[in-house]
This record gives sequence, C-alpha cells and structure tokens, in this order.
Amino acid sequence: MEFKEKRVLISGATGGMGYEIAKLLSKEDCKLALFARRGDRLKEIADELTYDKTRCIYKKCDVSKRDDIRDAVSFMVKEFGGIDAAILTAGVLIPNPIQTFDSSIIKKSIEINFMGIVYFIEYILPIMKKQRSGMIAAISTLPDKRGVPGWGAYGASKAAVSWLMESLRAEAKQRYNISIVTIKPGSVETPMIEDYHRTGAVSARRAAEIIINGLKKEKKVIQFPLSQVLLVRIQDLLPPFAYDLIPVDVAKGEGYPEVDED
Ligand SMILES: NC(=O)c1ccc[n+]([C@@H]2O[C@H](COP(=O)([O-])OP(=O)(O)OC[C@H]3O[C@@H](n4cnc5c(N)ncnc54)[C@H](OP(=O)(O)O)[C@@H]3O)[C@@H](O)[C@H]2O)c1
Repeated sequence: MEFKEKRVLISGATGGMGYEIAKLLSKEDCKLALFARRGDRLKEIADELTYDKTRCIYKKCDVSKRDDIRDAVSFMVKEFGGIDAAILTAGVLIPNPIQTFDSSIIKKSIEINFMGIVYFIEYILPIMKKQRSGMIAAISTLPDKRGVPGWGAYGASKAAVSWLMESLRAEAKQRYNISIVTIKPGSVETPMIEDYHRTGAVSARRAAEIIINGLKKEKKVIQFPLSQVLLVRIQDLLPPFAYDLIPVDVAKGEGYPEVDED
C-alpha cells in the first residue's frame, strides 16, 4: 500500500505512537484527520504537520462515546470525501490490582480500548464498502493470548481487539477488498509506560516506522520488537502449571503500584 496522497484517519493522534505515525505520514503528502480528547494539542500538531501538500484536519473525540466517533467520521468524510486508511491507536493502560479488584477499571478499559475501536469500525465500514477499498488498522498488544497478573483489565480489552480484528479480516478482504490489520507492539517508550521500566522498549519513532513499513507491505499482523515477540510467543506455549511458576512481581513488571490490603 502506498500512502501518498491518501486520506488517513488517526485516533489517539496526540499520543506517543499516534503522533509519530502522523508525523511520518505527513511526509508522504497524506490528508490527515486527527482525533483525540485534547483539542489544544491536536491544534498544535495539525499546525506543525500542515505543509506543502499535507493537509491536517482535527476534531476532539472521546472514543468511548459512540456519538463522538459518528461525528468524527462524518467530519472527515465531509472534508475529504472518503477514508482510505484508519489507524486506531487511542488507548489507556490502567493497572487493576487483585487487592482492590474493581469492575469500573475493567469497564473503562473495555469502553476506551475495545469499544473505541468497535465504534470506529461501525462507522467506517459502510464508507469503505462503498469505495470497495480501504484499510483499518487497530493497536492491540503483543501479550494478547495469556493473562498477566495485575493487568487483566488492559489485557482483556486488547485480547478482544485481537479477536475482533482477526474475525473480520478474511471476510472484509474477500467481500469488500478492505484490509484489516492488527498491530501488536511490545514495549514502546511513550507517556503510557513512563512509570514502568521495560527492558528492550523501542522509541515511539521506531515503533511508528515499523508500523508504517508493515502497513506498506500489507502485513496482516504487525508485531515487534523481535526479542519480545520471541519471549512472549514462547511463553504462550507454556502449559498452565509452568506459566504460573513465573513470579507474579516479574510478570507485573517494574513500577507496578504497591497496594495495601483494605
Ligand atoms: N506504549 C506501549 O508500550 C504500548 C504497548 C502495546 C500497545 N500499546 C497501545 O498503543 C496505543 C498507543 O499508545 P501510546 O503508547 O502511544 O500511548 P499514549 O502516549 O498514552 O497515547 C494514548 C493516546 O490515546 C488517546 N486517548 C486515550 N483515551 C482516549 C479517549 N477516551 N478518547 C480518545 N482518545 C483517547 C490519548 O489522547 P488524549 O489524551 O488527547 O485523548 C493519546 O493520544 C494504545 O492503544 C496502547 O494501548 C502501547
């Protein structure tokens, strides 16, 4: 896939990866539609990335609100006349310790990380079906197959994203010529993980390069960095008794909040 002059929607455009993806695509003369909650930051980014043939439009959008997403998609179609690619990066990472097990954290994670993608797909699919072309890429996470202590809310929301994207992929392509791509990053140095040290994390810029290259090569799943891919996929093969031998604090990772029992 070539991005030159394509109309590209980016959710989470104010974030570490979303912003770097927007920056790279601005060099390919794309028409960019940027969405996130922080309007002032969106404006700064749009001003920064509008040059030569690149046009940037933006609109505040809370992805947990279906009406916001409906308005975001129709705003983009009104301005650009269609959508060639959507790169859905908006997300939150909230620990949910077992000591204070709290359904509201799980609900919030599902509403933003999963429903925020579901609503976009709901409104974008009819447009791409009509066009008989398009690409929808959504960010899940590398460890999307096994539960991780303390991260059940995040992991459940991301496993749902991986499942949804894979369940749509073949049919969207065969029926409508729409490409569905799942992006599964390991650790990426962005504000999201600034409180958690992660060995082998790649920079947000490098992550964006890997993602854009993968999309250009029409990969169906983009997972990185290689060292973490190997580790996680080997762990995926462990039987439950062996998986449960991994010390809980190691599995949670450095920086996981200490929680007192009530
Ligand atoms: N960093 C990692 O190591 C890592 C690893 C695997 C997967 N991921 C995933 O990669 C994606 C990008 O994360 P990142 O690392 O770039 O994080 P980040 O820097 O924290 O950016 C998150 C982005 O999501 C937006 N966002 C959050 N809640 C939103 C809401 N309710 N509505 C609209 N936008 C919302 C934020 O914008 P506003 O605050 O302006 O709304 C921001 O643009 C996420 O889905 C994350 O789960 C990250």
